[in-house]
Amino acid sequence: MNEHLDLLNGNKGWATSKVKEDPEFFSRLKAQQRPQYLWIGCSDSRVPANEVTGTQPGDIFVHRNVANLVIHTDMNLLSVLDYAVTVLHVKHIIVCGHYGCGGVRAAMDSMSYGFVDNWLRNIKDVYTKHIKQLEAIEDIEKRCDRLVELTVVEQVRNLAKTKIVQRAWKDKELQIHGWVYGLEDGIIKDLNVVFEEIENIDRIYQYDNL
Ligand code: CO
Repeated sequence: MNEHLDLLNGNKGWATSKVKEDPEFFSRLKAQQRPQYLWIGCSDSRVPANEVTGTQPGDIFVHRNVANLVIHTDMNLLSVLDYAVTVLHVKHIIVCGHYGCGGVRAAMDSMSYGFVDNWLRNIKDVYTKHIKQLEAIEDIEKRCDRLVELTVVEQVRNLAKTKIVQRAWKDKELQIHGWVYGLEDGIIKDLNVVFEEIENIDRIYQYDNL
């Protein structure tokens, strides 16, 4: 039952090596954080934002949940988003899913997995929206990977529908990107969906008086 000590020991080693290579590292970061990016990723332990992007503490503001979803009633996500956009002034928001996502895979079948079913319902809605395209793909793993991509695009769209993002677009530049990380090779695929203005979303979701 002492596995947790590995983490504390690991931390000591890490902190020591950081100071060795850059004596000012912690004192500089302590003063303030100025991340340019907000990362919305999956909770999956294999997709840590800093490691897979070769970045350092201080570079990325991070929010992670099961299957990297953007739900417009999620107070946690909205609080992170508002702080990142309004206070930290991040320039880019990245929704990064990953192939082989267990959450997306679970949403594709008819099993109940407990409370998380309520969360995964949002992915079933994406599935329904693209059912023809998805069911034309016979291989289940490939179908799941396509659903991973479609889900990421939908979350980019969900971000653009928020008042937080629309308000920001009135007076500053802010881009939202959709990416998917590959567990098999560690490479991130850019889905090339960049939302950067209110015209990117359907008229019904646009607010005129922000
Ligand atoms: Co996942």
